[in-house]
Amino acid sequence: MKPHKPLCHWVCFFWLCCGFARVFAQVQREDEDGGGWRSSADPTLDDGGRCNIPVLDNISYKDFMERFAFSGPVILRGLTDNTKFRRLCSKKNLLREYGDRTVRLSTANTHSYRKVDVSFREYVENFLRPQAHDALGNDTLYFFGDNNQTEWQHLFSEYSPPPFTLPHTTRATSFGVAGAGTGVPFHWHGPGFSEVIYGRKRWFLFPPDKQPHFHPNMSSLSWVTHSYSSLTLEEAPLECTIRPGEVLYFPDRWWHATLNLDTSVFISTFLG
Ligand SMILES: *[C@@H]1O[C@H](CO)[C@@H](O)[C@H](O)[C@H]1NC(C)=O
Ligand SMILES: *[C@@H]1O[C@H](CO)[C@@H](O)[C@H](O)[C@H]1NC(C)=O
Ligand SMILES: *[C@@H]1O[C@H](CO)[C@@H](O)[C@H](O)[C@H]1NC(C)=O
Ligand SMILES: *[C@@H]1O[C@H](CO)[C@@H](O)[C@H](O)[C@H]1NC(C)=O
Repeated sequence: MKPHKPLCHWVCFFWLCCGFARVFAQVQREDEDGGGWRSSADPTLDDGGRCNIPVLDNISYKDFMERFAFSGPVILRGLTDNTKFRRLCSKKNLLREYGDRTVRLSTANTHSYRKVDVSFREYVENFLRPQAHDALGNDTLYFFGDNNQTEWQHLFSEYSPPPFTLPHTTRATSFGVAGAGTGVPFHWHGPGFSEVIYGRKRWFLFPPDKQPHFHPNMSSLSWVTHSYSSLTLEEAPLECTIRPGEVLYFPDRWWHATLNLDTSVFISTFLG
């Protein structure tokens, strides 16, 4: 009998188990940490908890139509459960499934959308970084919208959009991933919903008849750092930060700008 042999088996078995447990714990941690997308938060981006948009749980369609659909933004909770979709949007999973696909990036300014095609992997590795405070919107490339609905169909089919629609409209989905400090400067279009899957997104809105002052090539970040702080009380926007599980509704033609506080994964449902 040589006792060291079975001992080695046990040691190796124990060692392997530890390895598996570590990998499992890492996957779990990644999920809790924001799907592996988390970047170091920039405290200057924070909203200090300001929120003057109603945040409502489990609102009925009737309530939504009467109080918000045609009159003002609202943040809705409890509309849908996108836990599974969220898991599919982890960094590891999206890179595995879509890393080699071509995505179309747009400049983050108000009018002139320059478009650039790169692989999703290249976007994540080379473009997805915290935005510099002095970068211009027209020089910043952003992945949002212009999604190839055929290639991304498998993922998008797992998304439960907000169940509310408006009469005579159809839904169109736009998906994006963007770095901390990026965002789209003020613009307007038809009504829709925006949901954050990972990260946090700060929103600024003005009614259609109250156009904010902004330079069309200025980044959202630079508007927040330079213009926002000098607004008077009457000039102040409606604003709030949305987090995973929350959906912001914006009515037709409302001016809006966004600022991603973290690296964020997000999806919008436009009612066209
Ligand atoms: C909203 O609905 C969910 C699911 O039906 C329920 O678990 C939750 O308690 C509700 N929240 C409120 C504030 O009513
Ligand atoms: C971006 O906009 C600024 C100011 O409007 C302009 O000076 C600059 O040339 C633009 N950059 C590009 C790449 O077009
Ligand atoms: C914004 O940038 C675009 C190109 O990036 C340029 O053509 C345009 O003139 C700039 N607009 C202003 C108002 O400077
Ligand atoms: C979308 O992807 C499919 C499959 O890869 C491709 O055949 C098609 O040309 C793409 N459509 C656009 C608009 O790029």
